[in-house]
Amino acid sequence: MSIEKFIEGIPKAELHLHIEGTFEPELMFEIAKRNNIKIKYSTVTELKNAYKFNNLQEFLDIYYAGANVLIHENDFYDLTWSYLNKVHEQNVKHVEIFFDPQTHTDRGISFDTVITGIYKALEDGKEKLGITFRLIMSFLRHLDEASAFKTLEQGLAYKKWISGVGLDSSEIGNPPSKFERVFAKSIEEGFITVAHAGEEGPAEYIWEALDLLNVKRIDHGNRCLDDHKLVDRLATQQIPLTLCPLSNLELKVVTDLKDHPIVKMMDKNLLVTVNSDDPAYFGGYMNENYLGIAKALNLSKRQITELVKNSFNASWLPDTEKEKYI
Ligand code: HPA
Ligand code: ZN
Repeated sequence: MSIEKFIEGIPKAELHLHIEGTFEPELMFEIAKRNNIKIKYSTVTELKNAYKFNNLQEFLDIYYAGANVLIHENDFYDLTWSYLNKVHEQNVKHVEIFFDPQTHTDRGISFDTVITGIYKALEDGKEKLGITFRLIMSFLRHLDEASAFKTLEQGLAYKKWISGVGLDSSEIGNPPSKFERVFAKSIEEGFITVAHAGEEGPAEYIWEALDLLNVKRIDHGNRCLDDHKLVDRLATQQIPLTLCPLSNLELKVVTDLKDHPIVKMMDKNLLVTVNSDDPAYFGGYMNENYLGIAKALNLSKRQITELVKNSFNASWLPDTEKEKYI
């Protein structure tokens, strides 16, 4: 069996996905039209041509601009439903997805509108497509602690729907320590914590995420390789890293997929997983991410199987559910 068919056929889980990052240009134009909002670009092709990034910030500027056309509950529903259909075709069985409440509440959209649209689509995805899910509310780290606290307060009314909290957006200059108190309160309220760390920021940010935010997974974490004590800690405690190969390539975290550290990390006994991050912006969903590294690094089917198993292992599914896949 070809490696393409093998990747397509194997049941997969996605653990690092920003729902706002699944906004395909075609849907963006459709929603902009029905909401009477003007997009800076006049065609889908023109918009896609703008997707050339030299770093995380250049991407974030375009990603937040795109999210501006999302206004109504059904916009958030359509966004999420479209993602679920896409990954359903790729044999993804379980997703743990981020949403960024502040990206929307700061524009006057209510927290309820955002989460209800997303959640209804996730419920429909479970019923109609058989995709199980968890939802993670992510704080924007370029904003202040007070704004994160306000967001946490808003999330408390939807505790039943939200499994965890995360930390994303501009990493350098916004260390995890900035949110230590918000995360402590989040844990007190029963949320599991994760954080983006070591994507562009230093290994020190990964230590902070572990020690100050008590995270159960590190999102990205590439820079852990700069610090062998940190690698030992992550390996010994089997703290999962949610890697995003195509994202790393598009944001110049790596210059070539052949240089992607995933195999080096597996060799160091790190619990690494493959994810798409913002697939509409980075040129690929789950299968494209797996295929990209499989080809660049000449991965065997055994290695791909191990990566897939890692994802189910690192997920927040109960053991009885995980066992179906590992
Ligand atoms: N890093 C930080 N923030 C983000 C990302 C990312 O890769 N994607 C969406 N928000
Ligand atoms: Zn991310």
